[in-house]
Amino acid sequence: MFHIAIATAVLAAGSALAQGQSALPPLPSMIGPLSFSPQCQQAVIGVATQGALAQCFPFADLFPLLSTNTFIIPFLDKFQTDLCYNYPTCSQATLTAAAQTVAQGCAEDLKKDGIAAQTIIDIFSAYPIVREVLCLKTTDPYTAKSYGGFLGAPPIPIVGNPIYNSTDGTFCLTSVATQLSAYFGTQLTVPYLAGLVSGQNSTALALATSINPNIVCNTCFFAALEIVDLIIPAVGNTPVAAVIQFFMAMVPKSLGATTINQLFDWTCAYKPLSLVLDGKLPNGVSVSIVNSSYPIPISNGQPLPVNCQAKREEVSLFGRKRA
Ligand SMILES: *[C@@H]1O[C@H](CO)[C@@H](O)[C@H](O)[C@H]1NC(C)=O
Ligand SMILES: *[C@@H]1O[C@H](CO)[C@@H](O)[C@H](O)[C@H]1NC(C)=O
Ligand SMILES: *[C@@H]1O[C@H](CO)[C@@H](O)[C@H](O)[C@H]1NC(C)=O
Repeated sequence: MFHIAIATAVLAAGSALAQGQSALPPLPSMIGPLSFSPQCQQAVIGVATQGALAQCFPFADLFPLLSTNTFIIPFLDKFQTDLCYNYPTCSQATLTAAAQTVAQGCAEDLKKDGIAAQTIIDIFSAYPIVREVLCLKTTDPYTAKSYGGFLGAPPIPIVGNPIYNSTDGTFCLTSVATQLSAYFGTQLTVPYLAGLVSGQNSTALALATSINPNIVCNTCFFAALEIVDLIIPAVGNTPVAAVIQFFMAMVPKSLGATTINQLFDWTCAYKPLSLVLDGKLPNGVSVSIVNSSYPIPISNGQPLPVNCQAKREEVSLFGRKRA
């Protein structure tokens, strides 16, 4: 999952930097612990706004998020619609060329931050996996009645809402992000997330750290982990402690050597949900995509029986009700 996390950060950074070019907000020279020299910014802006990669990866759909304090989920949904159905698939040659442009333009910065140029190549090469995960759809999206109605209505409901693409269901990311917006009791915006991640919003941080681990007991998360594991088995075999350490210094002792795959299986045995790496997605989940470049055939889950939605979720998703 490191690759995915890093890829997301880089793509977000790319969007942020590209946004800077249109001269609305000042160009960020630092994102988190990473700093960007002017040459590096130029390389990232170039890749995100011009050339072959910008033709196959809809960065432009994300730019508005960075200049406006707006609810991110509709923009992400549009981005996924373009990525999954409307833009051509990026070729390996395009990905490699873009990675080389960034690695060259950012050579000094990478050296300073101790990141190997190969890491940049690896991140761009994760495109088929990232796209496959972003194109997961569920026919059981979050509603105010999900999880026994415990979390309540989100700021923007999904079902029947024409701002969200409904072909083959709802994007998994749209569903999960909507659920989180109900949990946090607010519209998720870039400034809100920045306040959460930086710890400046202590209320939000307290809510985030009290999320029950059984949030992962959702077929969307199982499908995403399967897609990643099938190509990079090391991800599922990573000890959870190592992942947490990557973000925070303190690791609960109880986690010991538990791997990500084990955490999913143990946490969700009550449903029951278990991880089976056979290329078949859980029921109700599908990959909805045109011209996938993911190298393993994936078969979609069976349709869900009608009317089981309300019954299926009796255990509350989160440890405690939001304040
Ligand atoms: C998918 O691939 C076919 C065959 O290469 C091509 O004709 C079509 O335009 C592609 N569609 C998209 C959305 O990339
Ligand atoms: C979803 O996206 C597909 C491909 O762009 C499009 O054909 C379809 O009309 C969209 N559906 C909705 C409800 O937006
Ligand atoms: C901090 O987080 C809480 C809980 O989600 C939210 O209600 C509040 O608006 C946030 N404050 C700021 C300044 O974003």
